[in-house]
Amino acid sequence: MVSEQVKKGKFITLEGMDGAGKSTHIPIIVELLEARGVEVVSTREPGGTLLGEQLRALLLHETMHPETETLLMFAARREHIANVIEPALARGAYVLSDRFTDATYAYQCGAKGVLPHKIKQLETWVQGDLRPDATLLFDVPVEISLQRLASAREPDKFERENAQFFEKLRQAYLLRAAENSHIFHIIDANQSIDKVKVLVKEVIATL
Ligand code: TYD
Repeated sequence: MVSEQVKKGKFITLEGMDGAGKSTHIPIIVELLEARGVEVVSTREPGGTLLGEQLRALLLHETMHPETETLLMFAARREHIANVIEPALARGAYVLSDRFTDATYAYQCGAKGVLPHKIKQLETWVQGDLRPDATLLFDVPVEISLQRLASAREPDKFERENAQFFEKLRQAYLLRAAENSHIFHIIDANQSIDKVKVLVKEVIATL
């Protein structure tokens, strides 16, 4: 594990319900960070490594017990941390991850009922003291998220869930943000892409 002393870079994560629009803003965030002359590693979860992407294919399309899903998320995460995140942070890069452990708290715990202490145990085991330096939470009302998904590509397993699932998800994310307010920046993503972009730029400027 990279200790705080060895860690030279910054770890930034993006979170939000499906349809909140976070992925749209990745290129601009990369551009803003690269303009500082630092290396930027843009990655995603589940995934980010060869094995992780194979696990992603299973996770997004196969039905399984929520605890199996949690364990596979953390298996992919272990690989991601060892092969991508820690080496990048140790050499001083900015790591931008499209989702990380807050997604497990929101989806597997908040929406699917896995007990939080089980996720916490895995978090401690797999991550040591590695936590994001900053998390941008793209927040939209559930109806907006569902509307956006309805006009998007073929939905995966999570994107086919109902409004009740999405409401639990949103509340779980907002709770994570309230409990970790020193890390979270909530972005009101219920507006035009240009307006959201301005908010994203303001947050990135503070990091
Ligand atoms: P997502 O990041 O939304 O990618 P895309 O934009 O390509 O659909 O998809 C990943 C899905 O995985 C998303 O529905 C949330 C889910 N997920 C979890 O349920 N738990 C986790 O810990 C992570 C990282 C993702």
